[in-house]
Amino acid sequence: MKNIDAKSHVRGESIYLDDIPLLQGTLFACVFDSPVAHGLLKSLDLSDAKKSDGVVRIITAQDLPGKNQIGGIVPDEPLLADGHVHFQGMPIALVVAESEEAARVAAQKIKAQIEPLEIITDPRVAFEKNELIIPPKRFQLGNTTAAFEVCAHIFQGRADVNGQEHLYIETQGAYAIPVEAGGLKIYSSTQGPTAVQRATAGVTGLPMHQIEVDVTRLGGGFGGKEDQANTWAALCAVATQLTGRPVKYSLHRLEDMRMTGKRNPYSADYKIGLDKNGKILAYEVVFYQNAGAAADLSPAILERTLFHCTNAYFIPNVAATAYSCRTNLPPNTAFRGFGGPQGMFVMESAIAHAAEKLQVDAAEIQRKNLLQPGDEFPYGQRAESEAENAWVQADLHFHFEKIRRDAQSFNRQHHYQKRGVAMMPICFGISFTNTSMNQARALVHVYTDGSVAVSTGAVEMGQGVNTKILQVAARAFSIPPEKVKVHSTNTLRIANTSPSAASATADLNGKATLMACETILDRLKKVAAEELQSQNVEDISFENGFVQHKNQQTNLDWATLVQTAHRKRVSLSEHAHYATPGVHFDWDTAKGHPFAYHVYGVAAVQVTVDCLRGIYEVDFVKTVHDFGKSMNTAVDYGQIEGGIVQGIGWMTMEEVVYDAEGRLRSNALSKYKIPDIYSVPKVLDIVPLETARENLAIFSSKAVGEPPLMYGIGAYFAIRDAVRAFNREVSPAFDAPFATEKVLMNLYAKK
Ligand code: MTE
Ligand code: HPA
Ligand code: MOS
Repeated sequence: MKNIDAKSHVRGESIYLDDIPLLQGTLFACVFDSPVAHGLLKSLDLSDAKKSDGVVRIITAQDLPGKNQIGGIVPDEPLLADGHVHFQGMPIALVVAESEEAARVAAQKIKAQIEPLEIITDPRVAFEKNELIIPPKRFQLGNTTAAFEVCAHIFQGRADVNGQEHLYIETQGAYAIPVEAGGLKIYSSTQGPTAVQRATAGVTGLPMHQIEVDVTRLGGGFGGKEDQANTWAALCAVATQLTGRPVKYSLHRLEDMRMTGKRNPYSADYKIGLDKNGKILAYEVVFYQNAGAAADLSPAILERTLFHCTNAYFIPNVAATAYSCRTNLPPNTAFRGFGGPQGMFVMESAIAHAAEKLQVDAAEIQRKNLLQPGDEFPYGQRAESEAENAWVQADLHFHFEKIRRDAQSFNRQHHYQKRGVAMMPICFGISFTNTSMNQARALVHVYTDGSVAVSTGAVEMGQGVNTKILQVAARAFSIPPEKVKVHSTNTLRIANTSPSAASATADLNGKATLMACETILDRLKKVAAEELQSQNVEDISFENGFVQHKNQQTNLDWATLVQTAHRKRVSLSEHAHYATPGVHFDWDTAKGHPFAYHVYGVAAVQVTVDCLRGIYEVDFVKTVHDFGKSMNTAVDYGQIEGGIVQGIGWMTMEEVVYDAEGRLRSNALSKYKIPDIYSVPKVLDIVPLETARENLAIFSSKAVGEPPLMYGIGAYFAIRDAVRAFNREVSPAFDAPFATEKVLMNLYAKK
């Protein structure tokens, strides 16, 4: 089945925030944000701005009717600066005017007097000064100290991995409308409608039931709108409350890049110990997460870094420590993988380091240490591992040995072009690591014409979740997909949603949808049994829009049955709640069973580096990927392709640069390079892993949103391999991204 949005996307008819027709009297907002990264706000001169054409109101922290606080996990984030600025781009005041242009012109006329304070941008410096967002988190398995005693080889090093700009095509934004009795309706480009509702309730002082949040779809979120959509919605809401008029704010790309947080950069120290056969016996790692100026989601991201710190490997002795470090950058946030990729990069760096020193192929070490079924993760859960299975099948399909040999022979024949190869196994846990978030609701209405309306907490952001939800309802009722409509995500229809995140949206909301459909179906079966004068409800089933009796088609069709049920006063609506069974975690012991299941896979990545210029091409990414049993291969292959390219971008070209003043230098698309059509792997092979195991995914179709991004990590190590094929003397630092300039320096570096 096609993505249900395909047609309207291509025709430009899909509705995003900026396509919503504006109500008469709508005002437009623009933020005046801090020009410095850290300081005391001594005074604010609004006089020129107030006189500026079209300005209706300028709002500062003192004007907020409710609390000046939007921190989700830790209450450490004011909506508007109050006496103190913590990062460049921190909102200080909100200008509300008759037009977008007028608001932006006026915002530039605001003058702030800020007494500078020391600026920290490096998480290790923040750590030295004890600037921690939360107390450190630790995972431990076995005893690393004892294990290192018996290791034949021990290697220690440092790995650094940079952030990543989300660059969703649709920038952040919101549109707030006053409704009667002091309530608000908010259209928001958010992954978390309830998060927006909660944050807005806080700053307006309204109860949540006075605030309706509605989301049709996003032009991409990638984690950047899990929490950070709250700011703009909350600002519009306050402006609406204070002016009594609808207020819209749709960020300029430059505002978005400057003011919003990105993927968390990390710096890490690792120590890896192996026996003489290449088995990893012990792994110690310390992560310094660059959280930025407020907690945002960083504490949860930090957790997932620990959960994935040994990637797809079993290591019997692990000690992992993670520090969330407060710096004067915009608060960093969720980004596809949610800290997992950063943890995996360090693991792969440690393996590459060991392989280099032992003069073996990294793939040998990777292969020997893959998780086996029953192996224990450092957090206590046992693996239903497909890691070995994926590796074996990938080797069968893609012939690792031949890939390696061909690259070597190419390298012998070419002096100024070198090929590099890397294997990248992945293992990604599916579920929110915060157990309580693993719940969802669905509301299903069957109308008397037999058409079906579904609402869930799922937010469509391009990942195809609405298509999957529609498939669930159509399949459950055995009716054609055209009979089902999935409606906007709305907090009045579906309350207390978890954000659409953690790749679990289709699982959670799809299961709730299935439950609601099944309840309605049970009622309809009773009605059908009565109509067909059948004694046994068990004999009733549905197929192709008709009722079946003892597997024989009857002439009772779906629409007639629905009408009959309605006439008999049987409810045709259901609101269902799903909570993932069996997940739990205890941070006191740092053990539990946090994930419903894991997604596995292996990719073979090859690059060719132009050793005169330091540029490179990705020749191929060939992957065997664990879909479980995909319910929509078009959508799922799209997620894999997009994820891989986004991962390659993060690892090889996207350079987020802040200077020592905490100013974003890569603040425009002319200075921040993202993958384009030429950076896409020339060959991208996806082979589904054949597995028979039962899983907790919707229709056994495993989550696919985030895991493929991590195949992109292979591109880093493939480039490193190629650089070393050209320059045997160099041992490039583990410092992602491996952008062309860095490649060139390493190609010609001396020992
Ligand atoms: N795909 C598209 N096209 N756009 C997005 O914003 N977000 C990613 C992934 N794939 C994203 C995407 C992220 S970060 C997550 S967590 C999942 O989709 C969320 O959706 P899911 O839970 O339905 O997989
Ligand atoms: N993944 C993604 N988003 C989240 C998570 C998670 O595990 N926890 C809280 N938000
Ligand atoms: Mo995705 S980072 O969990 O929104």
